Amino acid sequence: MEPPAGKLLLAIESSCDETAAAVINRNRQVLSNVVATQHELHERFGGVVPEIASRAHLERILPVIDEALRQANAALSDLGAIAVATHPGLVGSLLVGLTSAKTLALVLGIPLISINHIEAHIYACRMAAGRDLFPAVGFVVSGGHSNLYDCRSPVDFELLGSTTDDAAGEAFDKVAQILGLDYPGGPQIEVVARNGDPQAVKFPRAFLHDARLDFSFSGLKTAVLYAAKGTPGARAQPLPLTPQRVADLAASFQAAVVDSLIGKCDQALKQTGRRTLLVGGGVAANTLFRQQLGELASRRKIELVIAEREFCTDNAAMGALGWELWERGMLAPLDLDVKPGLVRKSSSERVASSN
Ligand code: KG4
Ligand code: ZN
Repeated sequence: MEPPAGKLLLAIESSCDETAAAVINRNRQVLSNVVATQHELHERFGGVVPEIASRAHLERILPVIDEALRQANAALSDLGAIAVATHPGLVGSLLVGLTSAKTLALVLGIPLISINHIEAHIYACRMAAGRDLFPAVGFVVSGGHSNLYDCRSPVDFELLGSTTDDAAGEAFDKVAQILGLDYPGGPQIEVVARNGDPQAVKFPRAFLHDARLDFSFSGLKTAVLYAAKGTPGARAQPLPLTPQRVADLAASFQAAVVDSLIGKCDQALKQTGRRTLLVGGGVAANTLFRQQLGELASRRKIELVIAEREFCTDNAAMGALGWELWERGMLAPLDLDVKPGLVRKSSSERVASSN
């Protein structure tokens, strides 16, 4: 099914604690990208409280959609389809986005498109490049996900590996807490690590010499905890947590995470034979990670595209992926439900075809 000429896509994102809407034209140009963050509501709880998130989405979703249309200078009648993140995420949060999207699609008589939030994080690289980038290896490294994909096309992703416990960003945040640094931990650890010795403590790199493409960061987190506060039952006291010791632990931890991420990325490129690597998610802001991704790309002589910062954190513009599905007639039925858990199949197998 050909999307009608001149029509625009409205994308909606509410999978976690960001209420977002964006208007995107057929050339994948982002005409507006509105994000209302809820960080201030969850900060004092040290993490996202699902019930608070759902209520905040409810309050914000309509003003956010309105603002996205206003900034794009578009009317509801300019819309040709509604794309919405339906999985994975928090069930209550996803439902607010999906219900709004369904209602608009029904009232306007236009198609509904279901978006996999994590795959959209990879599609965000498309905006940085301004051209088609597939096939590729896709890597999402954020507070919630550490997923490697073989992206055969923009709508055919195979999950190659993911974390068996904490996501990489989550590990940064938890280790920062152990070291007495502020939230979010990633940027704090990065700054402190500049004065530290990355070889001060040899922390574990889980599965690094294993054929599987999965990650595990919880053992590393515990190792940092023991190095900082002492091993339970051990007689030896830990070294005092002086600023230099904190810097050394931060640098050693960062080196271990980046080694794991780069090692698996390298294996994924080797295994798939892909010549393009697409990276998204908040941890992609890390200088050491970016530097080593660059080195990996030159060593393997492949193209590396990292999503722009604006499109790395949760946003609706990455729902531009909806255009790829729309152009292929991969539309969703109006009785579509959210799928909070991660689905290991590719998009093409999951989305109902148009009728
Ligand atoms: O993608 P993101 O903004 O949000 C989601 O998780 O969806 O990722 C946030 C994560 C946090 O865990 C934060 O600590 C981490 O990205 N992060 C970093 C850096 N900047 C943000 N981790 C390491 N180094 C950084 N410079
Ligand atoms: Zn995300």
